[in-house]
Amino acid sequence: MPSDKQDVLLQVRDLEVRFGTKRRPFIAVQGVNFDIYKGETFGLVGESGSGKTTIGRAIIRINPTSAGDIIFKGEKINGPISKELDRKVTQQIQMIFQDPMASLNERAKVDYIVSEGLMNVAKDMPRQEREKSVAEALADVGLLPEFASRFPHEFSGGQRQRIGIARSLIMEPEFIIADEPISALDVSIRAQVLNLLSHLQRKKGLTYLFIAHDLSVMRFICDRIAVIHKGQIVELSETEQLFANPLHPYTQALLSAIPLPDPLLERNKELMIYDPACHDYTTDKPTWQEIEPNHFVLANRQERDSYLHRIATCDWPLPK
Ligand SMILES: Nc1ncnc2c1ncn2[C@@H]1O[C@H](COP(=O)(O)OP(=O)(O)OP(=O)(O)O)[C@@H](O)[C@H]1O
Ligand SMILES: [Mg+2]
Repeated sequence: MPSDKQDVLLQVRDLEVRFGTKRRPFIAVQGVNFDIYKGETFGLVGESGSGKTTIGRAIIRINPTSAGDIIFKGEKINGPISKELDRKVTQQIQMIFQDPMASLNERAKVDYIVSEGLMNVAKDMPRQEREKSVAEALADVGLLPEFASRFPHEFSGGQRQRIGIARSLIMEPEFIIADEPISALDVSIRAQVLNLLSHLQRKKGLTYLFIAHDLSVMRFICDRIAVIHKGQIVELSETEQLFANPLHPYTQALLSAIPLPDPLLERNKELMIYDPACHDYTTDKPTWQEIEPNHFVLANRQERDSYLHRIATCDWPLPK
């Protein structure tokens, strides 16, 4: 848990991202609000197509935003910004992608892949210095310096993801968006990559936005978790609070999908299914509210009252 937890690094306020055309817009994310504290790992979890990557890409300025603010270290970084601020964002915010097979340029050597971003911001850097930075970045992720002259296809999936991480680290970022960094990897090497990310966080004081589509790994890596459903965040709280006292029915459905270690309990477990059609929001609309300290939920008045009652009576629907 970070010590200077209240030091906010990134603020997202009422974020909206639209795709499509003006006449036929598709709203991919809407009304998204969260803060990320310096040094923490903030998790964003939700099913495929819920808008997780869209939010990550809006933060690194790939996706234009149609409403709201993204504030990094006190400066608004979405919409038109100065060249100087753009350079700062390019250096200080990095993204690691899901599929290490698809995200590395097959025809380039590791040396070029890892230093590409650096060369864009430090064009006049002497070759020797660049090679030294590449070697350091490779060492940081546990790869040998001689790997710099090889091509991506010569590496395993786990090693390729390490190359992707080295490519981010060479920029000396403060904030890394890890978009499903282990989903495409073999189960046996997932833990290695997670441990590497944790080790790098401690060593370099990094802040992470960790994106995933299931909650099982997030318990071990995230300080706080936001749950997103169809472009809207439905619940946000500290990790243990979310696992102990989930409020929103979609969070409960995600939690019930995590396999239980006891085979007997697992076999008899009842999976919870979230059906938004069961909720009638025509008159009583849901809003984003803090239901107990540091525990936010999207709820209308009736739902809020039932959540408050549940908190007061400790009535939780999932087995502990
Ligand atoms: N460039 C784009 N143009 C049009 N629609 C897009 C674009 N990018 C994303 N979308 C749509 O926005 C929605 C959210 O997509 P997004 O990739 O953010 O989901 P995700 O939560 O990251 O899903 P996954 O877990 O599959 O990666 C989807 O319906 C997707 O089809
Ligand atoms: Mg995605």
